[in-house]
Amino acid sequence: MKESNRGAFASKFGLIMALAGSAIGLGNIWRFPFLAGENGGGAFLIIYLALVALVGLPMVLSEFVIGRSSGLDAVKSFKKLAPKTKWYYTGYLAVIIGFVLLAFYSVVSGWAFRFLWESVATGFVGQSAADIKDSFHSFTASLWGPMLTGLVFVGLCALIIAQGVEKGVEKFNKILIPLLFVMLVALCINSVTLDGWGEGMRFLFLPDWSAVTFQTFLDALGQVFFTLSIGMGVMITYASYDKSKGNMVRSKVTVSILDTTVAIISGIAIFPAVFTFGLTPTEGPELVFVTLPNVFAQMPFGWPLAILFFGVLSIAAITSGISILEMLVSIFIERFDMSRRRATIVTSLMTAVLTVLCALSSDIFNFFDMLSSNLLMPLCGLLVAIFVGWFMDKKLRGSTFTTNGQYATAIYPIFVFLIRYVVPISIAFIIVSLI
Ligand code: PHE
Repeated sequence: MKESNRGAFASKFGLIMALAGSAIGLGNIWRFPFLAGENGGGAFLIIYLALVALVGLPMVLSEFVIGRSSGLDAVKSFKKLAPKTKWYYTGYLAVIIGFVLLAFYSVVSGWAFRFLWESVATGFVGQSAADIKDSFHSFTASLWGPMLTGLVFVGLCALIIAQGVEKGVEKFNKILIPLLFVMLVALCINSVTLDGWGEGMRFLFLPDWSAVTFQTFLDALGQVFFTLSIGMGVMITYASYDKSKGNMVRSKVTVSILDTTVAIISGIAIFPAVFTFGLTPTEGPELVFVTLPNVFAQMPFGWPLAILFFGVLSIAAITSGISILEMLVSIFIERFDMSRRRATIVTSLMTAVLTVLCALSSDIFNFFDMLSSNLLMPLCGLLVAIFVGWFMDKKLRGSTFTTNGQYATAIYPIFVFLIRYVVPISIAFIIVSLI
């Protein structure tokens, strides 16, 4: 397929919304609040923000440099930029991560769909704390429920992707991401009116350094990778659709700020409510699926608020899911010379099989999460950092980063320093700590 046939984003706004759509996901609304809850609230936030600036941003920019300078997918990019080397295996690693992560992601997104449905149907009204806990556990442990909802999620992503880059990915992100912001802000405004507002704010923003351990840094770094969609070629793919020749640093900083803002706003929407009803915020992954429904069951106007919250969670999940599937589809189109429709069908069927496995066994579910988020994404990120920092053609790297010397020239040396030393050393820490 010719480069010009690959598709492209039609507008700058579309590009930013698509990038934000990928970044903003379950990571912000489901994962960030419970990690902050477990790791000292404000202390976690400070460490996380520092890591976004020192590791996250340089990583996103590196993937962007690769995608923009090659204009190709995650495998072919390396073939073009480093011909006759084995660097393109990094792209194949991204493919493996894509399938594994998407399967895991589809199952959790399916839970979000199920809770959205429950919110619309009952709003959790009249359910006791024990009922809610039971219903979550019996649903996740059941045979058909998680499988069906996970498959519905994969199907929805496939339907959007099949429409193409501009008419599918871009169009849906341009509608869904602003909608998500409006809904989240509405939830926040409601939070301000609650009795637990002060306590929630203190919890989220006041650092409790006694809860910080070495594990906190690892969790924060893992979260930075997950939330910014780093280490699996998604940013390479989206960057290759960016033909704007605009200021890359500015758009990536904007996206990282949007992403972090959503994580913080989610915390603001969640914690005051949790404290208002005397619940504990350190509930791990159950914070959103058990604690919050309890809150909605007791709160005035809990019903519409529950619909809003699980609506936000479902939208965030879809826009991220499509970015992972798009990365896979773009590679299949090139590698097997397939039409977009066929590539979408093949990749989503493969994902569907893995999703079913993940939904059926909690061991597989946990293994997929651990394998992708903790091990393979950092590994792929490490390879990208080493490639951009040490192997890529320096002239091309510089001219892509600065758009031929037009923008961000003062930041470029800082970027090079971070990507050569700070980023690889930080990632190596994650990997070594796991071995
Ligand atoms: N960034 C998404 C989130 O926060 C997850 C994701 C990871 C999406 C990797 C694409 C690639 O939920």
